[in-house]
Amino acid sequence: MGIKSPRELYGHAIKNHYGLGAFNTFSWETMIAVMEAAQARRSPAILQVSMGARKYVGHFREYVDTLHTLAEQYDVPFFIQHDHCSTIDACKEAIEAGCQAVMFDGSHLPYEENVQRTRQVAEYAHEKGIWVEAELGRLPGFEDMVFSEKAVYTDPDLAAEFIDRTGCDALAVAVGTSHGGVRGEDYLPLDFKRLEEIVERKPDYPFVLHGAASLPPKLIDACNRQGGQIEYLRNCSEESIAEAVALGVRKVNMDVDNFLVFTTAVREFFNGRPDIYDPRKYLELARDAFCMEVEHKMTEVLKSAGRYEKDKGKRLVSDKGDFL
Ligand code: G3H
Ligand code: ZN
Repeated sequence: MGIKSPRELYGHAIKNHYGLGAFNTFSWETMIAVMEAAQARRSPAILQVSMGARKYVGHFREYVDTLHTLAEQYDVPFFIQHDHCSTIDACKEAIEAGCQAVMFDGSHLPYEENVQRTRQVAEYAHEKGIWVEAELGRLPGFEDMVFSEKAVYTDPDLAAEFIDRTGCDALAVAVGTSHGGVRGEDYLPLDFKRLEEIVERKPDYPFVLHGAASLPPKLIDACNRQGGQIEYLRNCSEESIAEAVALGVRKVNMDVDNFLVFTTAVREFFNGRPDIYDPRKYLELARDAFCMEVEHKMTEVLKSAGRYEKDKGKRLVSDKGDFL
């Protein structure tokens, strides 16, 4: 199956009422982990690359080429999306490098400027058949190179207008999640009423949640038991994210939980086997932990597990590109 178009994957998710998991990868181990999880759970998945990953891998175009090549080895569908581009040029570079979708993040801009720039990106990208995700509203927390102090929840009327004026294909909304978690005593409340109002103005539109890792205390506990000193930040619970998917969210970005289990596996190995210095010994454990966490998200949160079997090989969009 390999790389398919965003329209095909979103069309299937919309038709079958589930969420597409979007997982940032940055290495051989993490790209394999996501693809193996998708294969094991018979689930579509979005392979993401962030600005931080672009800098980390160094050879960005070759990294995207590798994602393409590897994806062809699997018989579940993927597409490659560049996460959080804050400039139009960064979007263009992502498209030139071979991404099928790009997120232009204009959420920190005044509304009109976000509209203008998002429309500019959409016009450029659509000429090349590339899918554009935008963001309206602001999540608190720290994501890669993007920092926001406080939440600015998405206005349902403005969201509908923004989509009409920009032509963006998917829209990330702020309804309570945070990038990387924030200080708090319990899980953050997700504003379901606001989400319902956003969705009802644009039914079957690809709405997106960022910052949807839940940072379950048990994952932080496990890492801190191995010597980590990770703050117990809070985010929305997995149950809330699953509820948001049931209400119509069709793409869900979640990275921190995957990073936590990856780090715990390495720490645990270093603590248990201080005599071993072969990196393959701990990187394979970290890869497998990352893979298992992604499988868990596909099964328990996104409800995307097993979704592709019944329609395997069928067309999901018309020749005009309409969802079937
Ligand atoms: O764009 C990346 C995602 O929003 C990841 O956020 O790992 O804090 O859930 P998260
Ligand atoms: Zn994000």
